[in-house]
Amino acid sequence: MENNDRKYAKSEKIAVLYGGLSSEKDVSKRSGKNVFEALKRLGYENAELVEVDQNISEKLKGKDYSVAYNALHGKYGEDGCIQGILELLKIPYTGSGVMASAICMNKEYTKKVLSTDKEIPLIKSVFVKKGDNVLKACEELKYPIITKPVCEGSSFGMTKVNSKEELLPAYEEAIKFNNDVLIEEFIDGFFVTVGVLEKEGKPFATEILEIRPKNEWYDFEAKYTKGMSDFIVPSTSLSKESTKKIKELSVKAHTLAGCSGVSRIDYMIMNNEPYFLEINTSPGMTDTSDLPAQASAMGISYDELVLMILNSAGLNK
Ligand SMILES: Nc1ncnc2c1ncn2[C@@H]1O[C@H](COP(=O)(O)OP(=O)(O)O)[C@@H](O)[C@H]1O
Ligand SMILES: [Mg+2]
Repeated sequence: MENNDRKYAKSEKIAVLYGGLSSEKDVSKRSGKNVFEALKRLGYENAELVEVDQNISEKLKGKDYSVAYNALHGKYGEDGCIQGILELLKIPYTGSGVMASAICMNKEYTKKVLSTDKEIPLIKSVFVKKGDNVLKACEELKYPIITKPVCEGSSFGMTKVNSKEELLPAYEEAIKFNNDVLIEEFIDGFFVTVGVLEKEGKPFATEILEIRPKNEWYDFEAKYTKGMSDFIVPSTSLSKESTKKIKELSVKAHTLAGCSGVSRIDYMIMNNEPYFLEINTSPGMTDTSDLPAQASAMGISYDELVLMILNSAGLNK
């Protein structure tokens, strides 16, 4: 890769933020180490791994970092918190800014923002707060439905509910994680995910990755147990038209939510039609993560992907 492809010179000091305080801390450690090794291969001799904990401001202050590469996932790392600290410290960082990070961490708020565009296919849902009458709130929904904590990842706290009788226990499970619960109609189809990257500030979609879980849906076990899911990229189950449509929708959703640099957008597909699930603003970067596979399917190597994300730093709103 030539130097003129680089926003940051090889000599600049880069802090790779990893670890953190969320339930996805271990995944972030793997993402961060991979990113760090890629930066070294790219010639960034002064890249450093910086483990994030409550003392992160002190670790970053006055150390002359030109830029921070955010390899954190989940709470405090993907929700606007670390982004706020980096704003205060005036260190440019990769990925989305404070506002888009906070919106996308919350599945209900994401849907609220995206509902301003009628073309984005949102699944019929209700939003329930602690103390609300859940059974009543779900009267208009068609079973089966799915209950999910509004701010979690990794399918934590989610349950497929087949009938009214199963609703309250499923809701109780979800509020163990957050006081707010999103209840959606269940889309009986398959799951796909699309990366969105940026070149010179212009977003574009990666190839579409299709995941066929061996369980009934892509639950925690299917996500993190080897052999419990098949990965197909580019997806072979979509028509040409829906492939094009999903890619366009992804760029649109990324832009509408105010995302920057990188995101990964999840959908369910039924009868060749996409139904939006969520936007991940700090997608995994481990060896087996979705985004590197999506990028690779369109000829972007892992190192090129890291450089592309690094180059987008400082453009976030
Ligand atoms: N409305 C739905 N209908 C069918 N399956 C769903 C629905 N919502 C979520 N799922 C399944 O649960 C998985 C996780 O849901 P998602 O909303 O992406 O949350 P997470 O933040 O845990 O990834 C999805 O990959 C999908 O397989
Ligand atoms: Mg998801």
